[in-house]
Amino acid sequence: MEHWKNYSEYLTSLNCSIPKHIGFIMDGNGRWAQHYRLPRLQGHSAGILVVKEVVKACSQLQIPCITLYAFSSENWKRSTDEINGLMTLLELYLASELDELHQNNVRMQFIGDLTKLPNGCLNQIQRCSQVTQHNTGLNLVLALNYGGRADILNAAKELSKHSLTQINEADEDFFASLLTTNALPDVDLIIRTSGEQRLSNFLLWEGAYAELYFTEKYWPAFTKEALYEAILWYSERERKFGKV
Ligand code: FPP
Repeated sequence: MEHWKNYSEYLTSLNCSIPKHIGFIMDGNGRWAQHYRLPRLQGHSAGILVVKEVVKACSQLQIPCITLYAFSSENWKRSTDEINGLMTLLELYLASELDELHQNNVRMQFIGDLTKLPNGCLNQIQRCSQVTQHNTGLNLVLALNYGGRADILNAAKELSKHSLTQINEADEDFFASLLTTNALPDVDLIIRTSGEQRLSNFLLWEGAYAELYFTEKYWPAFTKEALYEAILWYSERERKFGKV
């Protein structure tokens, strides 16, 4: 039996509280590449291998939903070469992984302002969403050109289109239904790699009660074992939601 299977079975057998939704801030690709004197893009390529490993591990653990922060609305400030490289990697990832993800009952969803993405990516996004829409296993959400504040602002604009009575009576659940993440469970655990300890505009509303887990490892060095450690850490946290 492979080591990872032992570990995931161990986690499942613990009957510990497994998060319903994990958010990943996949940080440190550039520094990882720099450390090995490689071009930045190689850091992103190595990051994709980790994405594949993490998706498989989460699916094995029967975690209902994960969101990967793959491209933030601030990432457009990078060099054209890096942006084009990232978009190409994304397109290739979607094209090459779709079959296996679909066979494993993974449902793919995308959040963020997708209209600004290149056509090649958009075509793959459309294809992946369509093909996997009825799958009932892991919900794999990719945040692309995503910003938490922009999403909240859009929801506020949507709300303003309702009648004054509806606006006055709107509660948190109603407001949440106007976010692009409306059909997803609240995020329970946010994992950020590379030692940075910030949310960087990721799932601001949805992560209001999330446990935050920071690891020094750069994303390309993150492993399924590191994921299991984070989940064990999470399962030992006592979540109070404001109660004593
Ligand atoms: C942050 O590292 C990472 C990104 C901006 C992009 C993350 C993208 C991937 C892991 C690959 C594509 C993902 C999918 C789902 C196909 P950084 O470049 O900011 O690293 P640095 O802070 O060390 O420079």
